[in-house]
Amino acid sequence: MPPYRTSGDGVRVTLCFGGSIIAPNVPDLGCIREIADALRELRSRRHEVLAVVGGGATSRTYIEAARKLKASDVSCDTIGIDATRLNARLLIAALGELAEPSPVLTFEAAIRAMLRGKIPVMGGTVPGHTTDAVAAMLANSSRSEMLMFFTDVDGVYTADPKLDPSAKKLEAMTACELVKLVTGVKMEPGVKVIVDPVGARIIERARIRTLVLGRHEIKRMPEILEGDKHSGTAILPGG
Ligand code: UTP
Repeated sequence: MPPYRTSGDGVRVTLCFGGSIIAPNVPDLGCIREIADALRELRSRRHEVLAVVGGGATSRTYIEAARKLKASDVSCDTIGIDATRLNARLLIAALGELAEPSPVLTFEAAIRAMLRGKIPVMGGTVPGHTTDAVAAMLANSSRSEMLMFFTDVDGVYTADPKLDPSAKKLEAMTACELVKLVTGVKMEPGVKVIVDPVGARIIERARIRTLVLGRHEIKRMPEILEGDKHSGTAILPGG
């Protein structure tokens, strides 16, 4: 893909950090600090940043417990959303005054915070999808030029590499191909998928330039945003 920065101006970017890297079992402070450092560097290079954080093990543990207590799907989702906002608070703590001081609840509030020069950190919003979809919606509503997902898998594979050793990583694919890959996934609370189907459809519809990257690329975020090579998967607009 060509560089995303064509002049001296900054790029507006929405970043989604999977709970699988922020809180794989317990909160990973090293990872959270690395993310905060990269976001600081992005801001010092004049890029505009909006962030979304997933729930990880925290959401799964609580969703599982709620399920055993016979909570409804919507209640389980709501518990998952609460967990994403807990993790959002950790990233806010690491960012200090650069961040909007509490997890942002709406896209409008996120855009307002970004325009004031703060980094808004969102968790989930409403039941029925994951923070992948929240990030895609935020990227679209903020007119971000780029959407980047950071996950515990280093890109999109032809199948789940944890289950299928013959799965191959894709360097690039179209948004339409991504939609086809994830369409069969049932959207139950706590679902595990590289990009959830709701998010994939929004990326396709809004033609959002998207990268799916592994945790090890967090440090290189500014360079990748400015057009450097990366080891993940580029999702190209179109079919
Ligand atoms: P996550 O966004 O954390 O799921 O939402 P994920 O991206 O698959 O997983 P990680 O974080 O990378 O490990 C966890 C759960 O919270 C509910 C859903 O049940 C989701 O599976 N949720 C989250 C919502 O219902 N709405 C949201 O906007 C966000």
